[in-house]
Amino acid sequence: MATSKSAKRKIPSQKANRAIAPRHSEKPSVASAPPQGKHFLSDKVGHFTESVIREMTRQAMLHGAVNLAQGFPDFSAPAEIKQAAQRAVAGDVNQYAITWGAKNLRNAIARQMGIWQGIAVDPEKEITVCCGSTEAMISTLLAVCNAGDEVVIFEPFYENYGPDSVLSGAKPRFVKLRPPKEEDGDWTFDEKELRRAFDKHTKAIILNTPNNPTGKVFTRKELELIRDLCVEFDVLAITDEIYEHILYDGTEHISMVSLEGMRERTVTINGMSKTYSVTGWRVGWAVAPEKITNAIRKVHDFLTVGAPAPLQEAGAAALSLPEEYYANLATGYRVRRDHLMPALNASGFKCFRPRGAYYVMTDISAFGFDDDVSFARYLVQEIGVATVPGSSFYRDPRDGARQVRFAFCKKPETLDEASRRLRQLRPKNPK
Ligand SMILES: Cc1ncc(COP(=O)(O)O)c(C=O)c1O
Repeated sequence: MATSKSAKRKIPSQKANRAIAPRHSEKPSVASAPPQGKHFLSDKVGHFTESVIREMTRQAMLHGAVNLAQGFPDFSAPAEIKQAAQRAVAGDVNQYAITWGAKNLRNAIARQMGIWQGIAVDPEKEITVCCGSTEAMISTLLAVCNAGDEVVIFEPFYENYGPDSVLSGAKPRFVKLRPPKEEDGDWTFDEKELRRAFDKHTKAIILNTPNNPTGKVFTRKELELIRDLCVEFDVLAITDEIYEHILYDGTEHISMVSLEGMRERTVTINGMSKTYSVTGWRVGWAVAPEKITNAIRKVHDFLTVGAPAPLQEAGAAALSLPEEYYANLATGYRVRRDHLMPALNASGFKCFRPRGAYYVMTDISAFGFDDDVSFARYLVQEIGVATVPGSSFYRDPRDGARQVRFAFCKKPETLDEASRRLRQLRPKNPK
């Protein structure tokens, strides 16, 4: 987790920052001298660091490494949606969209939720389009949390949820996902531990399925168990479903909102980044009951005013792609997963097979390094492959000290080059 503890562990060599430090020959003028004694920074920002994932991308660029760290495709986005974006810009859709989202996109989101989840959504009252699902998540938490509220989060967790909780004043309560014993097994959680995390202070649970970083896809039985706790303790489910179409081995994505009793207590977050390979467009959304949507819309309006207007029009076109687009997307990622995993196994990693999303968590015990951070640093600097150290997905860095995560949303030649470089590794304790 990107907490202040992990500041020390951050993969350093911050050359880029030197550009903004004052040159020694320059004396600050009186006007620009820092005032003494005043504490200018928010206490909140002291509780987390910059993202380790995004830092690893900068490290990859610095060292000329193959970037299997951050989850963005290095291949093209679909031609149809790029053309739709070009048409929107040329057609002068260049001013603010309606703050909570362009009508065409909201209609398309509502239509697709009906088709995919069997849920009827009112596009006028229940959808807020944001600058990526990242903004949808923080806007939601800011809209629903008060100081002292608790938010249940499964760990390992997508890095943003920790700082999101801090910024919204909520206290995260972590519940462990335990890795499978065998490569083919599933990550599991202990029912009793989950129940212990719920009490009268619990405002929400954040659920990410398909899951980053584990690749876990929560089953109906697991979701029903979580649903029962949400109902018993009067808790909201905030679900991050941005990998909903990236599924393997016959797994099924089930949206929490589709479970009986959850329609009025679920915020469903999704976005274009992963499904349409456009992580740079920054278009995502939150679907929630009207009252919660009104609160999310207020926060969203004052945070960003709105998501990029022409890209929202292209979003409406993307959501109209035929069903086969989604089947091909999942097949393409399955091929990539099955391309990278044997190479990782052959180089000495123990892989946990993902059932969804486009990451593979690995156990690095065989390499005999002190921890994940020193290993990730060695990989990026000496071997030329960037990964994400496992500790960035945990509250206690020791829990991730034997893990690193690889992203496989890359071209075959990128995966081949990474595999070639990883062959230089010499495991000390082969499996
Ligand atoms: C689980 C999860 N949620 C959200 C995001 C960010 O999504 P967006 O680009 O829509 O902000 C990521 C990106 O890696 C992710 O893995």
